[in-house]
Parts: sequence; structure tokens; C-alpha cells
Amino acid sequence: MKAVRFHEYGGPEVLRHEDVDLPVPAAGQVRVRVAATSFNSVDGNIRGGFMQGPIPVELPHTPGLDVAGTVDALGEGVDGFAVGDQVVGFLPMDKPGAAAEYVLAPAEILVAAPKSLPLADAAALPLVGLTAYQALFDHGKLAAGQRVLINGAGGAVGGYAVQLAHHAGAHVIATASPRSGDAVKAAGADEVIDHTTTAVTDAVTEPVDLALNLAPVDPAGLAALVTLVRPGGALVNTTVWMPAPGDEERGVRGIDLFVRSDAGRLAKLVAQVDRGELRVDVAERVPLAELAALHARAAGGAVHGKAVVVPATA
Ligand SMILES: NC(=O)c1ccc[n+]([C@@H]2O[C@H](COP(=O)([O-])OP(=O)(O)OC[C@H]3O[C@@H](n4cnc5c(N)ncnc54)[C@H](OP(=O)(O)O)[C@@H]3O)[C@@H](O)[C@H]2O)c1
Repeated sequence: MKAVRFHEYGGPEVLRHEDVDLPVPAAGQVRVRVAATSFNSVDGNIRGGFMQGPIPVELPHTPGLDVAGTVDALGEGVDGFAVGDQVVGFLPMDKPGAAAEYVLAPAEILVAAPKSLPLADAAALPLVGLTAYQALFDHGKLAAGQRVLINGAGGAVGGYAVQLAHHAGAHVIATASPRSGDAVKAAGADEVIDHTTTAVTDAVTEPVDLALNLAPVDPAGLAALVTLVRPGGALVNTTVWMPAPGDEERGVRGIDLFVRSDAGRLAKLVAQVDRGELRVDVAERVPLAELAALHARAAGGAVHGKAVVVPATA
């Protein structure tokens, strides 16, 4: 089969589209014929060798943390799935990923794919959808009627976070540049602040219960968000290269978010998609053979929104 792998850490040029052996599912594993994976910014950091501590991969490594595809073979002891089932999942980060025609997945991370959108597009959901949910609700404890500030709502996680917070009955204040302001508004933001012209600290005049940071701000910018949170509230940060500050005196918690696979929650997100409560936005569909070029564009800041990556055989 074809896969994209890197044999050493480095820039996008280390990614090779090459022939590899078809993997054989071990006990508890499912082989999935990949309809698509997606690009996540952490893929670039893993490829660059910057995540060797938290995410120790074996070289050569196949990237691709999201998978949408069709069950193709079952390892021993797997029940609950049959060959031909359409599934999605957030794959283990330290194992070979889905930038390939086939991938092995632990059965317990897979769930039935949404029925209301093309299978390949469903690869745009797992990692970023779970990040948005876990940030808002598992860590941020957001409840109906509360105010949430989503800083960096113009990106892939932000699109889901705005929709989920709005649907949960929160008042959503979002920052977005003009390129994504309309989409953020359409996703359910009550207020949109253009971060290219307005400082969020000037625009938010009433405290929020929760601030969620998704933007590549500097530590001072992150600390400024804490001042907007009411006593007893929280700042949840996904840009974990800098620790989330809190404010002990006012009881504001600073929380670093590390997304985890959660099939139960992913199944609920899928159900929300199929009920029309959660829109899956795909910015571009990129052939697997062009993954290195996609990584290069992403490194140059030229990828906006979610890209799904599709093998030629899909
Ligand atoms: N820790 C974890 O487990 C975890 C999991 C998933 C993602 N992440 C991280 O979370 C971040 C968001 O992920 P993503 O996939 O949504 O990334 P993304 O698609 O790149 O979105 C980030 C968005 O931030 C906006 N932005 C840029 N500079 C900004 C600024 N100064 N102020 C406000 N907004 C700004 C941009 O939108 P506009 O220009 O359109 O406004 C951009 O689209 C990334 O850093 C990612 O690596 C971490």
C-alpha cells in the first residue's frame, strides 16, 4: 500500500510518499481502509522532532491522527464492528497514523461515522472536535447562561468550540480576523472581536466565566486573558508550549489542555453532526501524495481551516 512516512525528523521535505507493507491487525485491532485523515498543527511538530518527549514515535513514522474510513479486517477478539462498517477515530498519537491507504486502530477508539456527510470529510471531526468539547466542558465546566471568550475562534478548533458553546446555551464572545469573522458569527458567536484591529482586553468589558485560548498569542497576551475572567472562573489554554497562567488570589484556574481520545464523547459529537447541531467544515481536500506540500504551506501559515488528506484509492 501507499503511505507517507518520515525516516528522520526535519522539515516538510522529510515526508516521503512510498510503498509499505499492508499492516496486519493484532488482537484488539481493526484495519481501516482510509477514506481520509486530516492535517493538525501538531503533525508538523511531531515531524519536526519537537514532541519526542510527550509523543515518542518510532521511525519511520506515518503521520495522521484522525481517521475516517471503512473497516477492512478485524484482529482477534474484536466485536462490535464488521467488515464494511464506516468509522471515525482519533488514533493513538505515538503509533503509525492514517496518512496511508490502510491504518491499524485499537477497536476501542473507533465509532460509527456520521451518516450525513461524505465519509472523507468526517476526518475533520475527531481531534479538533474532542479538543473543543474537552476544553469547554471537561476542563472549563461551561454551563448554560455563562459567558465564554473564545480567543482564536477563526481556526479549526474554534469552529467547533463556538458551535458547541452556543448550543449549550452560553453567551459566546469570539475573536476572529476578517477572513473568518463571518464564519464565526454563523457558527453562533454572539459577539465577534476583530483581533487585528481591537485588543480583546478593550473589547470585553464584562467578566467572562471561561476564557479559552486557541491562538498563538505570546505569554503576555495569555496573561491578559486571565484578567477578563471572573473570580472562580478558568482560563483553558491549548497552546501548551506556554503554561496557562491563573490568578490564585481571585481563584481563577489556569488549565493546560492535552486532548485525549474519547470514543464515547466522539460518538456523541457524531450524533450532534447527524442531528444538524454541529457542522463539519472542510477547507480543502488534499491528495495523500501532496501531504509534504500541505505541511510546507501550513508551516508558512498558508493553511486556514481544516484540510482533509485523501489517498488515491479512497
Ligand atoms: N493541546 C492540545 O491537545 C491541542 C489540541 C488541538 C489543538 N491544539 C492547538 O490549539 C491551537 C488551535 O488549533 P486549531 O487547529 O484551531 O489551529 P488553527 O486552525 O491554526 O487556528 C488558530 C486560529 O487562531 C487565529 N489567530 C491567529 N493569531 C491570532 C491572534 N493573535 N489572536 C486571536 N486569534 C488569532 C487564526 O484565525 P483568524 O486569523 O482567522 O482569526 C487561526 O486560524 C493550535 O495552536 C493547536 O496546535 C492543541
